[in-house]
Amino acid sequence: MFRKKQPKQEIHVDERLQHIAFIMDGNGRWAQRRGMPRELGHSQGAATFRKIGRYCEKIGIKYMTVYAFSTENWKRPQKEIDAIMKIFDEFMEDAFREMYDDNVKVRFIGNLSIFPESVREKMAKIERETAEKPFSLNVAVNYGGREEIVHACNALIAEGKTNVNEADISDHIYTFGQPDPDLIVRTGGDIRTSNFLLWQSAYAEYYFTKTLWPDYSEKDVNEAVEEFYSRKRRYGGV
Ligand code: IPE
Ligand code: IPE
Ligand code: MG
Repeated sequence: MFRKKQPKQEIHVDERLQHIAFIMDGNGRWAQRRGMPRELGHSQGAATFRKIGRYCEKIGIKYMTVYAFSTENWKRPQKEIDAIMKIFDEFMEDAFREMYDDNVKVRFIGNLSIFPESVREKMAKIERETAEKPFSLNVAVNYGGREEIVHACNALIAEGKTNVNEADISDHIYTFGQPDPDLIVRTGGDIRTSNFLLWQSAYAEYYFTKTLWPDYSEKDVNEAVEEFYSRKRRYGGV
């Protein structure tokens, strides 16, 4: 008799894990360890992003946020910035339209005013055309958590507010209308937030892994999700 093959591990999340966010770190080191230019790590990282996005949708995640480019990443050499922007532009031409069988609703979060008009138009078009889809994907570009909070404050001032509460801020940050992330995963081995989702992460569970983003797999998502479910979220209670 042949032994039955073990079924591949299938997981499915419930309402406790609606929003997962990724700090996709480690692309540069992944390439450098292979003697390749850092830019190739970003291309590989983009492929991983598609794979993990598809998987998160499949297991029932409703909201996914990815940190693609921070307000601090402009400090990098121009050659690397250009390569990242080129990958981003290519994504807008195809992947954002096709990546999840049309189920994805894209929102670009960050200070988008820095991008040329033509790029902003592309972003707006993608957001418009995917607006009714069920799986929300936030792509953080030129994103900084502090910038986001300052932006929210200025928007409130422009509305004439002289006194604000927490709900006002929540309604004016880039993720307005969405639940805060339940789980924030950072790959690449560093244990810091690097200015990601500062307001929204107040009660997020963090998960850090040494795995470099281009190596990140479905199995790694399963591990983070299992760890998430093993934790007790107390929100200050007992
Ligand atoms: C993350 O990978 C991607 C971006 C910040 C754009 P890195 O490029 O930071 O990779 P490491 O951390 O240098 O390995
Ligand atoms: C955080 O990674 C930003 C993104 C993943 C887009 P960085 O590589 O920029 O963070 P630091 O510089 O190590 O804090
Ligand atoms: Mg890094």
